[in-house]
Amino acid sequence: MSDDKRKEARRRADRMRAEFKEKQKPLDWFEALYQEADGDPGLIPWGGSAEVGSPGPGSPGQEEGQNTKIQNPWAHGQARLPLIEWLDRDEQKKELSTAAIQLKALDVGCGLGHNAVALYKAGYQVTAFDISETAVKWAARNAAQLPIEWTTQNLLNLPEDWSEKFDLVSETFTIQALYGAEREMAIKSLTKLVAPKGKLLIICRGRRDDTIPKSPPLPLMPSELDQIENFGFVSTFRKDYFDNKTPSNLHFVAEFTKV
Ligand SMILES: C[S@@+](CC[C@H](N)C(=O)[O-])C[C@H]1O[C@@H](n2cnc3c(N)ncnc32)[C@H](O)[C@@H]1O
Repeated sequence: MSDDKRKEARRRADRMRAEFKEKQKPLDWFEALYQEADGDPGLIPWGGSAEVGSPGPGSPGQEEGQNTKIQNPWAHGQARLPLIEWLDRDEQKKELSTAAIQLKALDVGCGLGHNAVALYKAGYQVTAFDISETAVKWAARNAAQLPIEWTTQNLLNLPEDWSEKFDLVSETFTIQALYGAEREMAIKSLTKLVAPKGKLLIICRGRRDDTIPKSPPLPLMPSELDQIENFGFVSTFRKDYFDNKTPSNLHFVAEFTKV
């Protein structure tokens, strides 16, 4: 996608976010954005980008030469590369191949569905949801040949019978779009969905101090991730990476296992 189109997509998203915040309907802009894009994924800012790269110079915790690179940028219309890399680890493949029955994964805030497809291809039975009905229909069309269950749901008000249903709950870049009480509720809600011994995977923008950026998203702080352990989880995998923007943005990949 061209830089101009990417910038246009961002401008449209910023405008809609502000409009709906004004109307005191802070979650409704997602549906409006997908509707206005009218089937053009280039008008969805998170539709794809060359977003992973090397650690930022002088970034905290990064020693010179330390390899935290995620090598291949992901292209438009593909799953998030940190998710693919996480799925591709030996321990993850072993868990899937030795499970007595097919493991169930939930893709949170599925957008156009590329991450859900990656979960399916890795071997999970997949349910994927988004608050935007238009996004869900679009994702279902994109992956019409695959037996993925697509559904429109609000993370803040999920079906009761989803409690402890999923062996993997995977969220990429959704919590960071939420603020305040809604964000806290969303994190708590995610923890409830995970089956005993199951995993919660969070891939997100990160920040190391409590400075709030002038414009969204609001990256997660390590303390927000750490609080997940208070809901009966242990941290079982953590990785930091930087994208290749200028200046580069810190991201976290965090896996928690329910005890
Ligand atoms: C920044 S996009 C990320 C999309 C996708 N996960 C990815 O990695 O590209 C955030 C997505 O979360 C969805 N979303 C936001 N708030 C939500 C909520 N409360 N419940 C369900 N989905 C939500 C939006 O519609 C949007 O598709």
